[in-house]
Amino acid sequence: MSLSHHLVIITGANRGFGASVAHSYVTHSGANAISFVLVGRNQKGLEEVLSQLQHNASGSNVEVKGLVVGDVDLADIEKLDSNLPRIQAAATELRQESIQAKKIVTKSVLVNNAGSLGNLSKTAKDVTWQEARTYFDFNVVSLVGLCSAFLKSTQATFPKEQYPDHKTVVVNISSLLAVQAFSNWSLYAAGKAARDRLLGVIALEEKANNVKTLNYAPGPLDNDMQADVRRTLGDKEQLEIYDGMHKNGSLVKMDDSSRKLVMLLKKDEFASGGHIDFYDE
Ligand SMILES: NC(=O)c1ccc[n+]([C@@H]2O[C@H](COP(=O)([O-])OP(=O)(O)OC[C@H]3O[C@@H](n4cnc5c(N)ncnc54)[C@H](OP(=O)(O)O)[C@@H]3O)[C@@H](O)[C@H]2O)c1
Repeated sequence: MSLSHHLVIITGANRGFGASVAHSYVTHSGANAISFVLVGRNQKGLEEVLSQLQHNASGSNVEVKGLVVGDVDLADIEKLDSNLPRIQAAATELRQESIQAKKIVTKSVLVNNAGSLGNLSKTAKDVTWQEARTYFDFNVVSLVGLCSAFLKSTQATFPKEQYPDHKTVVVNISSLLAVQAFSNWSLYAAGKAARDRLLGVIALEEKANNVKTLNYAPGPLDNDMQADVRRTLGDKEQLEIYDGMHKNGSLVKMDDSSRKLVMLLKKDEFASGGHIDFYDE
């Protein structure tokens, strides 16, 4: 049986859903070897996640290694020109190592997970353009840069003429808001819709290069971001729904949702460029 070695870059991997995706990847992806590049602002938190991943994998038949790229504030657009090369340098180092060790990376995956809510107390007419610019810099502009740098560096190390079987996947952690409008979510909904469409375009443009993209909406998760939603959302009707879900325990467990995402990636039957929700069949 041939070795499946996945290179997995995750933004916002130090906590929340990003960390959960990393753990599920080790358990459910079916890869024999995984090289992680964990990206975020919190160096120590990222290092802790990487060491937990390695600890959990020890004794299993999955070989886990990785690098941490900390101090990456994706909202700091001025630093993108230095941060994007740092992320891709880590990925290239792990890919080159895999070639030298004759355990060549067979699949490269970028999980665009990091994201923010914006101010949910406001309706659109009170949102300033300055707030919008700051919001889109982080949630959309940095994503364009991350995808572009990832595709270029993957294709530079694994040109398709030389590595025709290498697969590339770009994931956007999306939301129901990308496809359905709700009051008070103007920037969040517009940002998620933009991210979804970007991945739809990449799916078409890069199909011949063995690239697939997936917009995955993880459901209302039982985590810090949901607690922020319950604390700040200005719409009473939705607030009651989220409060009710929290009280009756029906918010989605992060590990259930990240397992679903990893199983979708493993089966590889999803339509590239599409949007899949946790609640979809
Ligand atoms: N929670 C939900 O119910 C839900 C539902 C649908 C979709 N989602 C999406 O799922 C993704 C993950 O969210 P989550 O629920 O895990 O939220 P979370 O608990 O708030 O975690 C957000 C992650 O993004 C990172 N991050 C925030 N600002 C950043 C910045 N400026 N630069 C780099 N990284 C930054 C955070 O790092 P720090 O520790 O440094 O802050 C953290 O790792 C998001 O895209 C979110 O929109 C969440």
